[in-house]
Formats: sequence, structure tokens, C-alpha cells
Amino acid sequence: MSFDVIIRGGTVATASDIFACDVGIKAGRIVALGENLGDATEVIDATDRLVLPGGIDSHVHFAQPSGPGIVMADGFETGTRSAAFGGNTTVMPFCLQKKGESLREALKNYHAQAAGNCYIDVSFHLIIADATEQVLGQELPALIKDGYTSFKVFMTYEGLALSDLEILKVMAVARETGAIVMVHAENYDAIRFLTDRLEQGGHTAPRFHGTSRPIPVEREATHRAISLAELVDVPIMIVHVSNRQAMEEIQRAQARGLKIYGETCPQYLVLTERDMDGAGMEGAKYVCSPPPRDLESQKACWEGLQLGTFRVFSSDHCPFRYDDPEGKLAPKGRSSFRWVPNGIPGVATRLPILFSEGVSKGRIDLNRFVALSSTNHAKTYGLYPRKGTIAVGADADIAIWDPNRTVTITHDLLHDGCDYTPYEGRVVTGWPVLTMVRGTTVVRDGQLVGRKGAGGHLARGAPIPGI
Ligand code: URP
Ligand code: ZN
Ligand code: ZN
Repeated sequence: MSFDVIIRGGTVATASDIFACDVGIKAGRIVALGENLGDATEVIDATDRLVLPGGIDSHVHFAQPSGPGIVMADGFETGTRSAAFGGNTTVMPFCLQKKGESLREALKNYHAQAAGNCYIDVSFHLIIADATEQVLGQELPALIKDGYTSFKVFMTYEGLALSDLEILKVMAVARETGAIVMVHAENYDAIRFLTDRLEQGGHTAPRFHGTSRPIPVEREATHRAISLAELVDVPIMIVHVSNRQAMEEIQRAQARGLKIYGETCPQYLVLTERDMDGAGMEGAKYVCSPPPRDLESQKACWEGLQLGTFRVFSSDHCPFRYDDPEGKLAPKGRSSFRWVPNGIPGVATRLPILFSEGVSKGRIDLNRFVALSSTNHAKTYGLYPRKGTIAVGADADIAIWDPNRTVTITHDLLHDGCDYTPYEGRVVTGWPVLTMVRGTTVVRDGQLVGRKGAGGHLARGAPIPGI
């Protein structure tokens, strides 16, 4: 057989195996794994390189409507471009339903923004902000059939938080239709109470963002979300878990056999609340929710990754420019931490940080890296085995890594729409040197060679349970 592409001489790793072999690709799919495969239009030399499934980042925000006067720094063009530079081949952005809006309208708008602009594949989760009878009874079940098999609910945030009753109703739809619910677990009333108290005391600097959302706020909501899911018997993903107490809630639920999954993110492995201490508004660069915690919380999150408590490792890329009144320096007169848009960029740095801090430093092995960065995302959100592995028949979504390359992270390497990275100056070992989506190279040696519009939207199936 003659191939379109052969990746030759590399070490292939999946979530379960590591083996030396060549990869033969035809019409965007992997069609052969072996030696001496023969001829190809293009041969990519992967000697001394790792050949891994392309990263799947199942938690990113692009072009998401934010508070008044606030604009997200990445749309689909810059967001998917940056993701490709970070070794990703699929991202899963959220399609946010605004109050009063139908889910179909929200999706139409997101698809219009994504169409023709993506460098890599995308697949939307839904955010349910208005759980009306029409949404729950008609729209959501129909959309699940159309392949939108996951949706997020918020327990906090003005205009987004759902009541427990509403969350139960959303969970019931997921139960009936075989979908999965992602939960942002923080106690809204507790945050409002603490925020008011802090402001009354004149404590308005960015670092008080952390004080306004301490660990019990997250732990309580995590416990409540799990209890609600238990009542309905539905799988849920507790997203962006930041600390041991919340993680232990998940562990207890898993030990009781509940289908409760966990996600953590780079900010909870390498940042702390001290990063929000910077002079003036500098700390705003690190404001996200839940906030980065302390060294003990970092240790706990590593344990969760090692043990499988966390099924996925995502970026929660939610970019706002720093030096911009439409970004972190919120509009004039809104100088309290309360108004700093929540979220930090990270779609390009997620995998280098996990590889460097995890694989290179011996905290996790290569198979777990692949599971956490790609395979488990595909399984959890209904993309497996088309995505998330290197196997005959799978899409040729591949990242070639130089495991020994040492890189100092600087914002100019990331190619996003933001004007900073929270990880500026951090030195990592291990770097993606080539990203390929369905057999076509998108990024090679730090150069964008892909075509805008080559990435498409993926309909998904039901989640595959299990760790
Ligand atoms: O601060 C964060 N995490 N912003 C992004 C939105 C979310 O809650 O995931
Ligand atoms: Zn969230
Ligand atoms: Zn998020």
C-alpha cells in the first residue's frame, strides 16, 4: 500500500502501551502500524521522538460572552491556533446559553463563529443557564440526539447559577438520555457573603479573590453536587478541582461506586494564591475560579492524577487580556476583585506543564500522561476510539514530542489572543514539535503550517464510563 504520510522511527505511546513502530496514514486515518511500511507521499522522521495521540482539551472557553464591557481574548481562530501549538488536535469549547435564549440559537451563533476559523477539530459542550421547561423537555433531549452529549451547570456566578432544583432537573434529562453533566462546584451565596464583607472592610485587591472563595466554598458545593447526582443516578464531572477536601469528596463517592469523575488543571499544580499578591492589579493575571490554593493543595492534585481520581486534565483556558479595559483591568470605577473577569489562558501550556512536571519529573508515567491529556477526554465525552488513541482506524490526530527539549515559556511561543501567560519564564522539559490533525500537519517546529478552516465540528456519542 502507498500512504499519504508515514511517521517513521518514533516511539508510539498510548494510554496502555509503549512500542517502537512506524505509523501509516491514508485519507486522514491511521491505516497501518508496523515496520517497513513502504512508500508515502510524505515521510516524517520521528527518531528520538515520542509519537502520541494529539491532546484533547475538553475544557476551554472561546468567544464566550462575558460581563458587561468584557471581551474574551480568544475566538476560534486564535484559540484553536494556540491549542495546536500546544500539541492539541481537538478542543471542546462551551456554547453558553444566555438567559432567555434558546439552546439552538446559542449553538447557531457559536457554529457561525467557528465555521471556517478552526485549525483543529472542535466539539461543543452546552452551558445551561436558563433551565426552562422548553429547554429541558424539548431542546436538550433533541440536541443530545444530535451529538451534544455533555453540558455544564454552574452553582455560582451571577446570571449562570442554577438552583438545586434546576440542577436536579438538568441531571434528570442527562439520566434519561445517557449524557454527562459537568458541574462548576462553588457555593454562590457563601461567595456573595464573603465578597460583601471583604469589600466593606476595604479589601478589594485581586488577592482577596482567593479569600472570597476559600476551600469550604468548593468542598460544600462538591458534596452537594455529588449528592444531587446520587439522587438521580447520573454521571457527573466535577470540573476544575483545586484542593484535597473537594478531591476527597470525589474519592468517597467513587469508593461507593458512584459515577463521579474529576478534572483538575495546570493552575492547581503550579500556581498558588501567592501569585495573586502582585503589585497593583498584577495579581489579576491569576484570578480564576476556583482560585489557585497552596502547596499542600498542589500535592493533593498530583495525588488525584496519580490515583485516577481525576479522569481528565484540562486547561480551563478562559483568556482575558491583562492590559486592557475590556479584560483583566475591568472597566473604570470597577476596581474591586469582584469585577476582575474570572479565568486564565492555558490551552497551549497545559501539556508541556503536565509533561514536564509529571513525566519528566517522574510523578506520572507516559501512559498516564496520554490518558490524562487525550484518551480519557475522548472516552468521557463520546469521541473514542475515533479520537484519543493511536490505533488502526482512528483519526490521524498525532502530536510528536521531543521529550528532552528544554523550553522557557514565553508568551510569544503560544500564539493566542491574550497579552500574557501566567507561566511566563517557567522552564519545561518536553515540548510538542509537530501537531497533525487527520493526517495534515498544522504546526511544525514552532511554525504554523496548517490551514484555517481545516478543523471541523464533531458530533459525539455517549460517554464511556470507568476510570
Ligand atoms: O475562572 C474560571 N474558571 N473561568 C472560566 C469559567 C469556568 O468557570 O470554567
Ligand atoms: Zn467553571
Ligand atoms: Zn471553565
